[in-house]
Amino acid sequence: VNFASQEYLNLATHPEVRLAAKEAIDIFGVHSAGSAALMGNTRLSLELEKRLAAFLGYKDCTVFPTGWGAGYGLVKTLVRQGDHVIIDRLAHACLQEGARAATGNVHLFPHLSNAAVGEHLRKIRQKNPTTGILVVSESLFSMDSDVPQIEELQDICSCEGATLMIDVAHDAGATGPAGGGYLELQCMAGKVDIVMGSFSKSFGSNGGFVACNDPALKLALRYNCGPLTFTNALSPVQAATVLKSLEIIEGEEGRILRERLMTNVLYMRERLTQVGLTPLGLPSAIVPVVLGTSAYSRLATRYAYEMGALVNLVEFPAVARGTSRWRIQVMANHTAEQIDRFVRIAEAACEKANEHLGATEIDRIDATIAAE
Ligand SMILES: Cc1ncc(COP(=O)(O)O)c(C=O)c1O
Repeated sequence: VNFASQEYLNLATHPEVRLAAKEAIDIFGVHSAGSAALMGNTRLSLELEKRLAAFLGYKDCTVFPTGWGAGYGLVKTLVRQGDHVIIDRLAHACLQEGARAATGNVHLFPHLSNAAVGEHLRKIRQKNPTTGILVVSESLFSMDSDVPQIEELQDICSCEGATLMIDVAHDAGATGPAGGGYLELQCMAGKVDIVMGSFSKSFGSNGGFVACNDPALKLALRYNCGPLTFTNALSPVQAATVLKSLEIIEGEEGRILRERLMTNVLYMRERLTQVGLTPLGLPSAIVPVVLGTSAYSRLATRYAYEMGALVNLVEFPAVARGTSRWRIQVMANHTAEQIDRFVRIAEAACEKANEHLGATEIDRIDATIAAE
C-alpha cells in the first residue's frame, strides 16, 4: 500500500488529465523550448496563468517550471540586500534559501507565532522606518500539519508596512469547499499580499506559481528572477495537465474528491490513534506521526516496507533531532481497506523495531548518526 505519493487528489492518473496531456503533445510536442522571458510560453501556459489568477482570487499569476523555483525566485527577486526577511522557522527550504541568498537580514520566528512577527517588525521599524520587509509563512505546514492565523498576520504586516507572502503548496486545490485551502477557510482568499505554490501536490504535475494583485510583480519576475528568466518554461504537457486538473478541481468532481480525501484522512487519523500512533496537527492530506530517534524510525520504516507499506520518513535537518516522523500522505482514491492494512503494518513494524532495538542500543546508534 502506497502512502508516500504526493498526489492528494489522484489527478496525475485521471483519464481526462491523461487525455489533455496527450492532446498537448500532439499539438506542441513535449518541450517548451525556451524561457518564459523569450518564446517559451504557449497559449496553454498563458491561459493557465489567467485561470489560476481567477481561482486564487488575484489579478495576476505567473507560472514557474517548479514550485521550488517559484518560492526561491520570488523571495530573491523581491528582497534587496538592505531589506529584511522575517520567516517562520519551519517554512520550506526554497523560502529559507531564497531569503539567505537575498540578504543577511533574515529573522527566524518561532513556528506560527504572530506575536513574534510583530515584535521583529517593531524592532526593525524603530531603526529603519522605510526599509523593505518581507514576512514569509505557509498556509499549511507539511511537517506538522498546522496552520497560522492568516488574517491576524496580514494585519500585523500591513500596520508596519511589511509585505506578507504565503506558500499555499499543500492546501491549494485539496482543502476547503472550493479548493481554496486555508486562505478560503479563513476568508482570506485574494487578501494576502502575495501567494506562491506548487502544482506537485494537488494539480498532477511539476510546476509552481506566484499570484499577486500588483501587475509590476509579473514583469519583475519575468526579467529579474533566475528560476524563471534563465530557465526553460513549464512544458506544454505540464501546462495542459495543470489546466485540466484545475478545471476538475473547480468543478463538482473536485468537490467530491476533496470530500473523499477528507473522509480518508479522518479515518486514517482515527485508526492510527487507536493503535497508539497519534498524529500531529489538523486533519489534512499529510498525516505526521512522530516516531522519535533516527535509529528506531529508520528500522520501523524498513520493516513497514518489507511488510508491504510505503511511507516517507522525515529526519533531521527537515525536523528537529529526536522527532523523526512518518509523513503519511493520504490520497482521495485510497480505500478504507488500504488504510486498515497500512495501520496494521505500521503497528507491527513499530513493535518489531522496538523488539529489535533495546533502549541502550537505540541511544548508541542515534549518537553515531548524530556524530555523522
Ligand atoms: C511548502 C512547499 N513549498 C514549495 C515546494 C516546492 O515545490 P515543487 O516540488 O513543485 O518544486 C514544496 C515541495 O516540496 C513544498 O512542500
